[in-house]
Amino acid sequence: MRRLALSIAILWCVTSATVNWWLEPRMTSNHAIAQVSSSVVLAGEKNGDSQSIQPPGTSESSSNRSPQASYVGRDACRECHTENHTWHTDHGHHKTFATTDDPNIIRLFEGRSYDSREPYGTFTYHADDKGLFARIPEKFGDRPFRLPYALGSPEGAVTLLSLLPDEKQNTFAIEHRVSWFHDGDELRPTPQEDDRNPKTAADFFGLRHDGRVMEKCVYCHTTRGTIEGETIVDLISGVNCEKCHGPGSEHVRLARSSKTPPKYSIGRDDWDTESEIQLCGDCHRLPVTVSRSQLREYPDELTRFQPIGLLRSRCFVESEGELRCTTCHNPHQTIKTVPAREHIENCIGCHQESNPSHTLCPVNTSDGCIDCHMPARELPGLSVSFHDHWIRVHSSESPSP
Ligand code: HEC
Ligand code: HEC
Ligand code: HEC
Ligand code: HEC
Ligand code: HEC
Ligand code: HEC
Ligand code: HEC
Repeated sequence: MRRLALSIAILWCVTSATVNWWLEPRMTSNHAIAQVSSSVVLAGEKNGDSQSIQPPGTSESSSNRSPQASYVGRDACRECHTENHTWHTDHGHHKTFATTDDPNIIRLFEGRSYDSREPYGTFTYHADDKGLFARIPEKFGDRPFRLPYALGSPEGAVTLLSLLPDEKQNTFAIEHRVSWFHDGDELRPTPQEDDRNPKTAADFFGLRHDGRVMEKCVYCHTTRGTIEGETIVDLISGVNCEKCHGPGSEHVRLARSSKTPPKYSIGRDDWDTESEIQLCGDCHRLPVTVSRSQLREYPDELTRFQPIGLLRSRCFVESEGELRCTTCHNPHQTIKTVPAREHIENCIGCHQESNPSHTLCPVNTSDGCIDCHMPARELPGLSVSFHDHWIRVHSSESPSP
């Protein structure tokens, strides 16, 4: 195992040039589908309908791929797609970004304290009507440090983020040193680089990120949002319907006037496997985000990046486009509510006796597939585990404890 790989494993995100392979979303537009399949998302355009309803505050860049459609928010989808809307409400995608005036985030931090020891001291957490803030009483008395944004969800882990101006009035972000973890319901250090050498007051509170790095956090955890000064404007929190399907105003308008609206986005059958893997991989990472040697060695840390594993599985390579993320995942339903049996049935869907074109397992043909062929790995320092999507025979095939 390479040392570099190990040190990278405990970061949420990139912090310096040496590790910038960690995340590299393409960010060519604000909604994912448009990047991977413009023919799909631009369907309304082809329709010849150029009427554009732009709500106030819709910036050019957020809708430049599909000028006549604008964002309407996920609740506009509920009246006709009730089931997907209900599912998505429980998905990590929906909850992965919040402003810290949200009571669900406040209760994770408020009234608590965390001893980060020297050189940082003890953080105490407080909230008012503007949201959460921290103090380090022994260093800065009762001066508050505002932490207005929360990344991650209360079912996993939550890291707080602050935006500040530097001397030249450029914005930088502070990723707070302490995060809340669902596992144990406790505050622990944020997985991040730490040189233990704070130079400014802000450095005491967290790790500094400039420009692109900061924008990428926001890109992957929101549907839309532009950093302007110390705030995020045009913010739509979470990975919601319109992040994957594109702005929905035209679709809603057309669907209200016809039971068979023209094609709007993915979801009908002309959506191909590769485009889908690129959509999910834009955030869950693709081989382009990792170094060539990492790809060759496939260290355990790569299990965090499901598309990379899947792409090298024989199941994927030899099934002629039949296997994709949505073969096993409903993109709207959280995995937390999927019964274990359903995962096994997904495997048996191909690997069964009645299907002579697939091989059968000589060890077990009806159970335990995931434990043996897609084992979960807990990555050091993260206390979050990931299933190895490189589906294969592992050298020691004992089910994980
Ligand atoms: C007034 C009803 C209505 C509303 C509101 C609505 N849809 Fe639809 N939607 C439909 C109908 C009808 C279809 C076509 C169903 C079919 O062809 O099976 C559809 C189809 C879809 C499809 C399948 C792919 C396609 O291009 O047809 C997706 C994805 C979709 N809607 C997403 C959304 C999203 C996201 C929203 C909210 C922004 C939304 N819909 C709001 C009625 C609606
Ligand atoms: C390339 C897209 C991408 C970028 C950039 C990114 N994240 Fe994430 N983040 C993800 C994905 C995907 C997950 C879920 C899987 C995982 O943990 O890797 C995640 C998970 C998390 C979690 C844990 C969520 C949970 O509930 O378990 C936190 C906290 C988090 N990110 C914070 C950050 C912060 C802070 C930044 C920027 C400093 C950042 N992320 C940048 C894609 C990204
Ligand atoms: C993470 C990306 C993602 C998000 C977020 C997302 N979808 Fe989808 N959606 C997909 C993909 C991929 C498909 C096509 C594959 C499939 O049908 O499983 C799809 C299919 C659909 C379809 C057609 C098939 C069906 O399930 O009826 C509808 C309608 C739809 N989505 C509506 C929504 C609505 C409404 C929301 C928000 C409440 C939403 N989607 C959020 C990725 C997403
Ligand atoms: C815009 C970025 C983005 C895209 C696109 C995206 N994801 Fe995610 N995904 C995330 C983030 C961020 C999280 C962490 C959510 C949290 O905080 O719990 C996540 C979490 C998940 C989870 C675990 C959480 C849960 O509740 O089940 C699954 C499964 C998942 N994504 C599957 C998919 C699939 C499948 C696709 C493609 C259809 C996809 N994602 C597309 C960003 C993205
Ligand atoms: C879309 C069909 C499909 C699905 C679903 C599928 N596989 Fe496969 N899998 C294949 C194909 C094709 C191969 C190549 C050998 C063959 O033809 O059976 C393969 C090969 C394998 C191998 C041998 C890998 C190697 O490196 O030699 C294992 C183990 C395996 N699959 C396990 C699973 C498990 C476990 C699941 C469920 C998590 C699963 N598969 C789901 C199609 C599939
Ligand atoms: C052959 C089936 C299969 C395919 C294909 C598949 N997954 Fe998974 N995935 C699983 C199973 C099984 C789990 C573990 C579910 C559980 O914990 O109950 C999982 C878990 C996840 C998780 C939660 C974190 C983790 O790793 O445990 C994410 C995120 C995820 N998958 C994303 C993806 C993405 C993105 C794709 C497409 C590139 C994909 N998956 C394709 C079977 C699959
Ligand atoms: C206790 C661990 C264990 C369980 C449970 C298990 N497997 Fe396997 N599987 C193995 C081992 C070990 C091999 C390699 C056997 C060999 O090469 O002799 C294997 C081989 C395979 C192969 C490749 C066969 C070939 O001829 O190349 C497939 C496909 C497969 N398993 C699918 C599955 C599926 C699907 C399930 C669930 C229904 C499953 N396995 C359950 C351990 C397991």
